[in-house]
Amino acid sequence: MLVNATEMLKKAKAGHYAVGHFNINNLEWTKAILSTAQELNSPVILGVSEGAGKYMTGFKTVVGMVNGMLEEMKITVPVALHLDHGTYDGCLKCVEAGFSSIMFDGSHYPIEENIAKTKELVKICAEHGMSLEAEVGAIGGEEDGVIGMGECADPQECKMIADLGVDFLAAGIGNIHGKYPANWAGLSFETLDAIQKLTGDLPLVLHGGTGIPADMIKKAISLGVSKINVNTECQLSFAAATRKYIEEGKDLQGKGFDPRKLLAPGTEAIKATVKEKMELFGSVGKA
Ligand code: 13P
Repeated sequence: MLVNATEMLKKAKAGHYAVGHFNINNLEWTKAILSTAQELNSPVILGVSEGAGKYMTGFKTVVGMVNGMLEEMKITVPVALHLDHGTYDGCLKCVEAGFSSIMFDGSHYPIEENIAKTKELVKICAEHGMSLEAEVGAIGGEEDGVIGMGECADPQECKMIADLGVDFLAAGIGNIHGKYPANWAGLSFETLDAIQKLTGDLPLVLHGGTGIPADMIKKAISLGVSKINVNTECQLSFAAATRKYIEEGKDLQGKGFDPRKLLAPGTEAIKATVKEKMELFGSVGKA
């Protein structure tokens, strides 16, 4: 059964480790992440962006697939199904579809509007036993081929949003989605430290987990980060393994074109990436 992410992240914050949020795109992704979490006895958060939800034909399909896998694969570790960077309407759709957790990304609104909308969703999530992630300070990334630098959130604004009763908070600390540019300045630990001082026990979320060096990840965890989002890295491992299979001509040998064979190396590559991240984040054995 799906659980919300509140308890697992409170435990992570108290235990000084982080739970991985891995974005899913399809059945292979979901199966790979769930089986790795079970094998390593680790809690896990399955992230679904609105685009990925649409790709999978809608949030209800996602809920059906994940719930089915939890049962068929006999998954016993805590699993949360979480909307990633949701709009207000997207959040309402996921509440209705049966997600266990949502992120409302109001970081592009003026702070007053971010507060007003987040407040509404705090109430709705409480009524449904769901967890809520909010965001302050937009997280950059590639848009139209241009890589925007990550913003640093204002710690006072983080406190204002934290005080609304959200369960965990994503705050920009110079992190960005996708690959980091060569001239990236690194994470701003000063900002993170200031945010943690004002938000206390609230678990903090680090987006853009792909390509952040291990020592920075560890330092971020020591300063209160309890959830780390990874997406691009699984996509890159999947693509590289699939490319290798095809370049070696394996799809042309025997029944190598069978999707169950063609997609197997990519699926195994996702598993390896998820395992590596869970080990780095310290969530192995913490289910
Ligand atoms: P990456 O794609 O950089 O790993 O970021 C994932 C993320 O933050 C999803 O919200």
